[in-house]
Amino acid sequence: MASDFDERAATWDDDPAKTERAREIAAALRAAVPLDGRTRLLEYGAGTGLLCEALADDVGSITLAEPSEGMRQVIAAKVAAGTLPSDARIWDLDLVDAEVPDERFDVIATVMALHHIPELPPVLAGFARLLDEDGRLCVIDLEAEDGSFHADRPGFHGHDGFDRDELSERLALAGFTDVRFTPGGQVTKDGRDYPLFMAVCTAPAHRDD
Ligand SMILES: C[S@@+](CC[C@H](N)C(=O)[O-])C[C@H]1O[C@@H](n2cnc3c(N)ncnc32)[C@H](O)[C@@H]1O
Repeated sequence: MASDFDERAATWDDDPAKTERAREIAAALRAAVPLDGRTRLLEYGAGTGLLCEALADDVGSITLAEPSEGMRQVIAAKVAAGTLPSDARIWDLDLVDAEVPDERFDVIATVMALHHIPELPPVLAGFARLLDEDGRLCVIDLEAEDGSFHADRPGFHGHDGFDRDELSERLALAGFTDVRFTPGGQVTKDGRDYPLFMAVCTAPAHRDD
């Protein structure tokens, strides 16, 4: 998938706010979800893998799913350099139209990626299939906003953040339970602060597979 994220990948980490945000989200995630040396973590829409870098010492294994080739190249360079663990896996995965891999995870985290995906049902259904029973999904994304966040990208067809009730309904439709929202920090863009949420929910107890 070619995207402007391919072009932005090489300089993505130059913005210290992104690195700091990943650290803050990692701390919030640690507080919200039990992690240990056996935890299988999937980060979806991983970008350059900043969150996985921050969580590498807290989990047993890391898989980074990212459809942008440019982003995957940055992740691969980090694995080669030892910034990410040598056994970290890099997946070219877009759950909108890809077959769901036959794998299981304990935690799926996705940061600022879902608002880029107009068609969420197959993605949330994919998360439900990829999580083991009692697995946790952690969504960190923009609170509903007025559309100004992507005003500089006329071709943007994603979501203007998420209304919490609406996202809860979408998650419930995919079988997730016990959805809890907490503040997830903020992103500052063009001098304006955009609040984030962290939604943590539990994977469906029963699947038909
Ligand atoms: C705003 S960036 C966030 C990157 C990273 N999570 C971070 O916080 O630094 C959004 C990411 O979502 C990815 N993305 C866009 N559409 C996607 C899709 N359908 N499935 C998975 N990832 C997608 C993009 O390639 C990009 O890396």
